[in-house]
Amino acid sequence: NTNWVDALAADDLPDDDVLGVAVAGRDIAIYTVGEGVYATDNLCTHGNARLCDGFLEGHEIECPLHQGRFDVRDGRPTCAPVTEALRRYPVRIAGGRVFVGID
Ligand code: FES
Repeated sequence: NTNWVDALAADDLPDDDVLGVAVAGRDIAIYTVGEGVYATDNLCTHGNARLCDGFLEGHEIECPLHQGRFDVRDGRPTCAPVTEALRRYPVRIAGGRVFVGID
């Protein structure tokens, strides 16, 4: 059962960039790529780095610490040294708010 948690106003979404937000006590990274909005855990699976401090290029987020990369659409690792996928979360936009689906 998905619990949709209000994360931020749609107007506060960045343009083709990443933002860190606290959602239901979790550190979540929200990404926008064109019209697409995606969410994953913000903490890199390789070490103690927040992906919101990294660099978004197309659908890939580059970790600021060792430059590992993930695809923000599904969380899969796309560049070493990361090997473990990021948890991703579904996103829904309604009534000008962005909701993140948490199990
Ligand atoms: Fe992210 Fe090492 S901590 S690539």
